[in-house]
Amino acid sequence: MHSREEIAPGVHLLSSFNPQVGITFNQYFLVDEQPTLVSSGYIDMVDDMRRCIDEVADATKLRYIVAPHFEADECGALRTWQGIAAAAEPIVGAVCSRQLSGFGLTTKFKQVNDGDVVSIGAMRLRALTVGAEMHLWDGIIVFEESQGILFSSDFFSQFGEQRLEGEAFTNSLVKMYQMTMPSRPKTEVFIDKVRDLPIRMIAPGHGFVITENINAYIDAIAQACLA
Ligand SMILES: [Fe+2]
Ligand SMILES: [Fe+2]
Repeated sequence: MHSREEIAPGVHLLSSFNPQVGITFNQYFLVDEQPTLVSSGYIDMVDDMRRCIDEVADATKLRYIVAPHFEADECGALRTWQGIAAAAEPIVGAVCSRQLSGFGLTTKFKQVNDGDVVSIGAMRLRALTVGAEMHLWDGIIVFEESQGILFSSDFFSQFGEQRLEGEAFTNSLVKMYQMTMPSRPKTEVFIDKVRDLPIRMIAPGHGFVITENINAYIDAIAQACLA
């Protein structure tokens, strides 16, 4: 069962824990002129997510769905959402756009390149191209510029139902990163891009929101994966 929490003005975390895989699945609903969802969730999460969204807005008015890469928790329910909200359009990187059209899932998407900014009203989503997909193809993560929130998808994620503390939190975050991205060159690109950002909050696809020690966590990933 998903819960909803407003983690910043107009930014709602939708989340539930899956005990079989030991991680939470997070999506984010952004209330703005163009209501936007970050990650579609799995198809079987849609009813629950819609209940959470309808508490603060009208889910049928959804305009954008950021799909960071071609994996079921990030974009599996795109078609279902497009059935609920006729104007809903995925924001995707180049690889994901090819998968969506190649599988016949949808040809209605907004394809973005590195550095492109999509304004959804007061909020502005800047796309960063980083390794992510099957075969380590590039996907995207997005940085919301007005509030400094990095929607980092599988990166900066952690295991568990309860938030860990101290070293255990750092270790969980580093371990999840290593599982997600076992490529040194792609990690170099990732670290370079996130180090330059004025991040005030990290909103990951799994685990807990991060508002403190952000530079230390970036350093911990760099040390473990680039040393
Ligand atoms: Fe993923
Ligand atoms: Fe994920």
